[in-house]
Amino acid sequence: MTKLDLAAAACGPEPARDCPLCPRLVAYRETNRTAHPDWFNGPAPSFGDPGARLLVVGLAPGRQGANRTGRPFTGDYAGVLLYDTLIKLGFARGRYEARPDDGLELVDSMITNAVRCAPPGNKPETAEEANCRPFLTARIAALPRLKVIVTLGDVSRRNLLRALGLKASAGVAGHGSEFQAGPYTVLNSYHCSRLNTNTGRLTAEMFEAVFVRAKELIEG
Ligand code: URA
Repeated sequence: MTKLDLAAAACGPEPARDCPLCPRLVAYRETNRTAHPDWFNGPAPSFGDPGARLLVVGLAPGRQGANRTGRPFTGDYAGVLLYDTLIKLGFARGRYEARPDDGLELVDSMITNAVRCAPPGNKPETAEEANCRPFLTARIAALPRLKVIVTLGDVSRRNLLRALGLKASAGVAGHGSEFQAGPYTVLNSYHCSRLNTNTGRLTAEMFEAVFVRAKELIEG
């Protein structure tokens, strides 16, 4: 077993609901639980098809998004473009209605986050990324048909590379970059955040092009 296999085997692909690894994120979770006991307030579990050939890796749950609803990108502004694009390309079926019981199903795809707990200000610390990385390693290891990984933003791209035992500098930065990481093809996109879409840094067409390429690679 490699060091990565050992780390993944030690934790499994999903953190416990009360994962204690990051004191700052635990304190934030407690604050949110006190203020909003009806919210999910825990590490957002990965969502999708266990036979997925496509994995989308986001950054971390938004406080009022996945931290509230318990499903990645659900209730977040970023989720609208992500789920609409997945539906358009056939990687999801149903309607995205920003709630975990909207019946939306992912098809041949899964969504996870580099950091599973909501960080204050949407900014995880380096140590928190490192604490959460074995879950990403384990998540990937538990997808036997996985071929293509879409990383949303640079934090996601760097964490993915490190989760695969590579140097963070091994991949190519920038929107639309494509590179091989072990057995997987990685496609990097700018994050579909409100900031990126409102400023025009990321358009719906640019985002869709990444998933069109993912489809080509998977089906080609
Ligand atoms: N919601 C998530 O679950 N992840 C992100 O990266 C952003 C919003």
